[in-house]
Amino acid sequence: KHIHILGISGSLRADSTNTIILKTLGSLLPSDTTFEIFEGLDEIAHFSPGLPDTEPVARLKAAIAKADAVVICTPEYAFGVPGTLKNALDWTVGTGDLNDKPVSAISASPLNSGGNNALASLLLTLTALGTKKTDACALSIPNVKGKITEGRVTDAHTLNELRIQCTNLLSLIGG
Ligand code: FNR
Repeated sequence: KHIHILGISGSLRADSTNTIILKTLGSLLPSDTTFEIFEGLDEIAHFSPGLPDTEPVARLKAAIAKADAVVICTPEYAFGVPGTLKNALDWTVGTGDLNDKPVSAISASPLNSGGNNALASLLLTLTALGTKKTDACALSIPNVKGKITEGRVTDAHTLNELRIQCTNLLSLIGG
């Protein structure tokens, strides 16, 4: 069966290091696997129970439904997950959109801490949403700026860690 992976970046910045990590991961997937990064996370309305799914929300849910697995790569702001990302995930609470969906969670930060607080918080949220994950489907990338050259991950160790994420995530599909 053809495998399709959805990437979601927690950063809205045009030259986001987290989006670069996602794009690099996408390039490391097997050639018969397709990869798409969700665009327009900032168009998603503030979640409140009972609100109807507007077009951006429906688009997110359709992108998740179409994907065999999801990779989320996020920065840390004030020791937490960016509100934009948390807000988008809140739309899937109780809907089953992410239930049993294989998800890999990655945080990247210019600091030594690697966005560990955001990663831990994201993993808690994913637990609430019932995603399929293992301890091996989580990665924090510290000192990220030194690992990127001209819009691509060039650090060999990080490239290897991203390859391992690909392998671990793919192994969760269909299992
Ligand atoms: C940050 N940054 C940051 N980093 C971190 O590891 N822990 C944190 O708590 C914060 N807090 C924080 C707050 C604010 C207001 C800003 C602007 C930045 C730094 C952050 O990791 C850095 O800007 C990354 O480059 C953001 O990720 P992208 O956009 O490059 O993907």
